Amino acid sequence: MKKYQTLGIRVFFLAMFLFIVSKIVAELEQVGGFEVEDRTIIVITPTYRRINRMPDITRLSNTLSHVKNLHWIVIEDGVSTVPAVRAVLERTGLSYTYMAHKTAQGYPAKGWYQRTMALKFIRENTSRILNTDLREGVVYFADDDNSYDLRLFNDFIRNVRKLGVWAVGFAGGAAVEAPKVVDKKVTSFDALWVSKRLFAVDMAGFAVNLKWILRTNAVFGKTCNRGDGAPETCLLEDLGFDLEDIEPFGYEKQNNREILVWHTRTSYPKLQGTDTFGYFVEN
Ligand SMILES: *[C@@H]1O[C@H](CO)[C@@H](O)[C@H](O)[C@H]1NC(C)=O
Repeated sequence: MKKYQTLGIRVFFLAMFLFIVSKIVAELEQVGGFEVEDRTIIVITPTYRRINRMPDITRLSNTLSHVKNLHWIVIEDGVSTVPAVRAVLERTGLSYTYMAHKTAQGYPAKGWYQRTMALKFIRENTSRILNTDLREGVVYFADDDNSYDLRLFNDFIRNVRKLGVWAVGFAGGAAVEAPKVVDKKVTSFDALWVSKRLFAVDMAGFAVNLKWILRTNAVFGKTCNRGDGAPETCLLEDLGFDLEDIEPFGYEKQNNREILVWHTRTSYPKLQGTDTFGYFVEN
């Protein structure tokens, strides 16, 4: 009887040992096998009801549908979400979060509050977005009316280890706003509108690795004096960044450098009538 007891104990400890070893090996494999594709791109898009929102969000959804391993956070500036918008998100097949947060008192109605709520969501619900703790993420703010080259996501954003910055067409009143790179380091910005901005960068011109988002509680405030009203530099400074933290993308060529994102805007259509004949048109 005693013999069997001892054997039982041995088998138990052996099983425990094998279980622990297999766990460790699995973990090592995950870490060692890290691929850039494993980084989830977290796209934050503030949006609001307007007559050309459906075409805008349709276009952006078609773009993002082509990007693998992406979580799309869409925040409605309103008291509730809009079924037609949710249907667009659903059809992408992407993993997404759609929530409504009406701009709070004192915030400018330019998506600042919605982006803030998205950052809070990411910090509170990280595992929900990434599925497993071992995976990495990169956060990017993509407004619904800009124009995005697919290479922006796969060649630039997904490779951001800290703070990635690149050129944006039609930003800040200039044909191009871009980081000025000397010896692979960003020393300043080629921008018309610099004023006192440390980071003279458009919302579409940067992405931040999730690790650095999770390190602080930085959000968009109600004002940004350091940005002369533009919020980007305040967020990046509050996240603890300095110019030397920037990883510039897309500057390598001497000529014909390519712009992968354009700060475009859909013009308001000139309508002679407003009957929609039973079709859904927002206004
Ligand atoms: C995190 O997710 C839960 C469940 O969806 C939600 O109730 C909560 O509001 C989220 N947190 C934030 C800060 O949005």
